[in-house]
Amino acid sequence: MIPARSIGIARLFGGLEVVAYEAIGEADPSDLLEAERVAIEMASAGRRSQFAAGRLCARAALRTLAFGDEPLLIRTDRRPAWPEGAEGSISHTVGFGVAAVARTETLGGRGIGIDVEKTGRVHPKLFPKLFTSREIDLLGELSPSERALRATMVFGAKEAFYKAQFHRSRAWVGFGDIEFSWDSAVDWDSAVEMVAVPATELDVLGLFAWPVVARHATRDGVVISAVVAEPAQPATMTASVASAPA
Ligand SMILES: CC(C)(COP(=O)(O)OP(=O)(O)OC[C@H]1O[C@@H](n2cnc3c(N)ncnc32)[C@H](O)[C@@H]1OP(=O)(O)O)[C@@H](O)C(=O)NCCC(=O)NCCS
Repeated sequence: MIPARSIGIARLFGGLEVVAYEAIGEADPSDLLEAERVAIEMASAGRRSQFAAGRLCARAALRTLAFGDEPLLIRTDRRPAWPEGAEGSISHTVGFGVAAVARTETLGGRGIGIDVEKTGRVHPKLFPKLFTSREIDLLGELSPSERALRATMVFGAKEAFYKAQFHRSRAWVGFGDIEFSWDSAVDWDSAVEMVAVPATELDVLGLFAWPVVARHATRDGVVISAVVAEPAQPATMTASVASAPA
């Protein structure tokens, strides 16, 4: 299994200089670097294979960005320990892994998040745990097949947002804390976008500019969701701009 560079996935990050790689099929953990293999050796075979898919994609992206081929270990908060000067996000499911990485200096304080989910795995019984009542109402207006796809997108977008925001906040955000909405039926000929706004007054949400946009693509029954968490305009910057001489 060899990761392939994906311009299409990189484009989901709205013009940022992101490098994305995807890997289809089962990854072999013996392709990991020694320190990565040791970090994951106690995990199940499935977890080791998915970990390998994500790591191989991430290291391919780092190489493209001219970083060295160092082990990408796991931080105590579960984020990948990106090398100094790089930021990114990893996601994987059975038979599919993806990573999106950028040079920190090109991100301007933004966080990026990516998530992959198999379509149809978000059972309606889970909706009250994962979605706000307005999201559930909007999902209720759709046909069963559209609902399965849209529920996968909303769930994936929330997980992608969580990863993107954690980069800045280092804090928990729950599934009910942000709310997505969408205007039209799914049209895969164009990038499918949804927007989110805060649904609660959770403090850390104030760190970000709203609305947040999620963009999606698909691969054989898998939805890929990408989110950029933009920092809120700092109050001091607004004040100094307002008082600057004309
Ligand atoms: C962290 C979380 C988002 C990961 O998602 P997942 O669907 O379980 O798994 P994925 O394959 O998509 O992503 C796993 C990768 O996320 C990355 N990750 C884990 N914790 C992370 C964090 N705090 N911040 C950023 N990335 C993180 C890791 O790279 C991990 O892969 P690895 O262990 O192989 O390195 C999920 O487990 C979770 O805790 N969700 C609850 C919080 C949430 O999503 N709230 C919604 C807010 S609106």
